[in-house]
Amino acid sequence: MNILGIESSCDETACAVVRDGREVLANTVYTQIKLHQPYGGVVPEIASRAHIEKISGVIDEAVKTFGEKTGKGLDAIDAVAVTYGPGLASSLIVGLAAAKGLALALGRPLFGINHIEAHLHTPFLFDAGETPSVPDPSAFMPALGLAVSGGHTTWIDMPSYGEYEIVGQTLDDAAGEAFDKAAKLLGLGYPGGPVIDRVAKEWFDPPDRVPGGPDAFIAFPKGRPRPGVSALAGLDADLCTSFSGLKTALLHYVERTYGAKENRTIPAQDMPRIVSSYQEAIVGVLADRTAHALKRRAYKALIVGGGVSLNGRLRAKLSATAAAAGVPVMLAKPKYCGDNAAMIAGLAYYRQNLTGDAALATDVIPTLRPGEQVS
Ligand code: KG4
Ligand code: ZN
Repeated sequence: MNILGIESSCDETACAVVRDGREVLANTVYTQIKLHQPYGGVVPEIASRAHIEKISGVIDEAVKTFGEKTGKGLDAIDAVAVTYGPGLASSLIVGLAAAKGLALALGRPLFGINHIEAHLHTPFLFDAGETPSVPDPSAFMPALGLAVSGGHTTWIDMPSYGEYEIVGQTLDDAAGEAFDKAAKLLGLGYPGGPVIDRVAKEWFDPPDRVPGGPDAFIAFPKGRPRPGVSALAGLDADLCTSFSGLKTALLHYVERTYGAKENRTIPAQDMPRIVSSYQEAIVGVLADRTAHALKRRAYKALIVGGGVSLNGRLRAKLSATAAAAGVPVMLAKPKYCGDNAAMIAGLAYYRQNLTGDAALATDVIPTLRPGEQVS
């Protein structure tokens, strides 16, 4: 079954064709990063306009690649899948409208897909003609999912493939947002995650360091929420994070050490230690929460997805955490970590909960939660 997927929930316009949920036959991603860079973050109006301008070309390119790989055309597409939430309303609308139009024109079913659930499908994708390195997702259930992106930091219980229940989450900023805001504060540009990841590699924690000394990690708060805060909404505080205090601690550190914004320069040689310490605080709490969550039940795997899962230190730490718990860690290929449509087309093969007239009639749901049923 060939499913064509469309994704436009934030600042990537994407279309892909995936065979039987896993084999990626085409994967076109137009990223708008350059358009948002001058503003240090995604500007919804600019994102929406760019989606409108690019979506037809992106779909055409994916269909062309599909044709080159298979010798087939649009009539070989069996269904259309689309992200209908969560995300920016004005961005989601563009992809949903395009997908409805395409499904109706082709006379094929439309499947509505949850973006976060789709991130957790990415470790199971493989490229056309490749032999898959892992078995089908069902072999890894029950699994613990961790979605870490610019908009989400969520731990998800997956009893079987297609069932999702949130067991932990960030109470304020997402991990990616914490990276992005720090980079903005430090003048490192947008998006912050990749540059912090790279600069942090230039510094390493010496084994003979004196704790608190100039060679050690700067002690930033560890991203733990205060137990009992109402935002926890019944969740276990040990499975939740809070990054707002970390961001403030970085600001205070920078002001204390280098002065106020107007007249400070942070010497380039200091940057690796600062970002490495900051990254360590984020990665440390993500690994700690994951270790807690893995104790909840006899999981068969840890499944990780989202843009932040590109982070080298996080990949290493989560691998160690999973190994200590005796479960395999499932990480996506780098090209499938960030937003893409292959994950949408792929998951749609396994999860057809919003289909038929309900899918054609649905509106976007910017606050859609993993596991939420809308039909
Ligand atoms: O999944 P994604 O492409 O979009 C969302 O759904 O949000 O994730 C984007 C986020 C950004 O915040 C970006 O800074 C972060 O992923 N990111 C990284 C790295 N590469 C991207 N964070 C840490 N380390 C990286 N190497
Ligand atoms: Zn995403």
